[in-house]
Amino acid sequence: MRQKILVTGGAGYIGSHTCVELLAADYDVVVVDNFSNSKPAALDRIAQISGRSVLWHEGDLRDRALLQRVFSQYAFAGVLHCAGLKAIAEAQREPLRYYQHNLEASLTLLDAMAAHDVRRMVFSSSATVYGEGARVPYREEAPLAPNTVYGRSKMMVEDVLHDLVQSDPSWHIGILRYFNPVGAHPSGLIGEDARGSVNNLMPHLCQVAIGKRAELPIFGHDYPTPDGTGVRDYLHVMDVAEGHVKTLQYLATESGLLTLNLGTGRGYSVLEVVRAFERASGKRVPSRYVPRRQGDLASYYADATRASSVLGWHAKRDLSEMCADAWRWQSNNPDGYI
Ligand code: NAD
Ligand code: WQD
Repeated sequence: MRQKILVTGGAGYIGSHTCVELLAADYDVVVVDNFSNSKPAALDRIAQISGRSVLWHEGDLRDRALLQRVFSQYAFAGVLHCAGLKAIAEAQREPLRYYQHNLEASLTLLDAMAAHDVRRMVFSSSATVYGEGARVPYREEAPLAPNTVYGRSKMMVEDVLHDLVQSDPSWHIGILRYFNPVGAHPSGLIGEDARGSVNNLMPHLCQVAIGKRAELPIFGHDYPTPDGTGVRDYLHVMDVAEGHVKTLQYLATESGLLTLNLGTGRGYSVLEVVRAFERASGKRVPSRYVPRRQGDLASYYADATRASSVLGWHAKRDLSEMCADAWRWQSNNPDGYI
């Protein structure tokens, strides 16, 4: 009998790649997703890659009746909680919606888990919880001071999980703070289907290369970094997916709370990413310097040693592989999932 894992937001970017890794590790996967930022087609592609299907239920995590039905139907061994909203600027404009989808949805899910005695969860958090004050490279014990609504919504869920474990140590909780996941599954069948106004670097680069946008705006070139552009810790989404499976496996026997950075431990500047992308895609990407984007920090990257010492996890794929895989996905699927 395979263990069943609930993946919330499993049709999304991180969730879909994680489903592929879960299936490869011989788990059964059940997805709950409201498809607010994804399409069911992603789940067909996962099946195409894996040769095994994913069970899924369309619905919102805040719907208690839906969760009651789903948790009654399957005996889950654990939950990967990837569902959530993630657009920084949108969150500043619509804080209530973000707290509803990120915080309220998590509370409703935890309630259902407790009611059905499912106490193993991996939560998708973000390096954005560290905020400006922390020293680079960011270590997990650094104080949290997010400077955005989105970041605070993630920190609030982390606080809830912390309090939950304090009150009842029989929970097995993993908090994964991802740095900048990019790239796609090497098949080119699943990837980041960026909809609406694209704000992140890699999807924007892909859209310029495919001809959907004229040029890449480079937000600031007067930062105190080697070439003046912002520095981030980009990591391949398949490494992120593997990190989830390893954390889930670790939590099968270890209770309490485990908080880990998922990053490579090194940073690349915007210009370095642009050059790597041009090499990988064979496309020239016109770019233009524009003023700094509000809220951006100059440079940050992970101290990734804890994930290595606790899980034996480290990011294996380099920047050229991240760019080549992102481009394969984009060029094979110019309009995303249709
Ligand atoms: P995504 O938008 O591609 O996937 C999120 C999925 O959750 C989507 O399929 C969406 O339809 C679903 N969803 C949203 N609200 C829901 C709700 N209330 N009920 C049911 N389904 C809902 O985003 P992603 O990049 O895959 O991110 C996954 C998680 O990782 C998010 O929690 C995000 O905050 C976090 N994260 C992402 C990044 C990143 O750069 N992609 C970095 C750090 C953390
Ligand atoms: C990367 C670098 C930009 C676009 C965000 C969230 C973080 C996490 C990952 C969810 C920066 C520069 C970007 C462009 C550019 N998500 N840039 N031109 O801001 O590091 O992180 O996504 O949790 O929480 O904050 O990622 O990809 O937007 O930017 O010059 O068109 O690229 O200034 O230096 P960011 P990003």
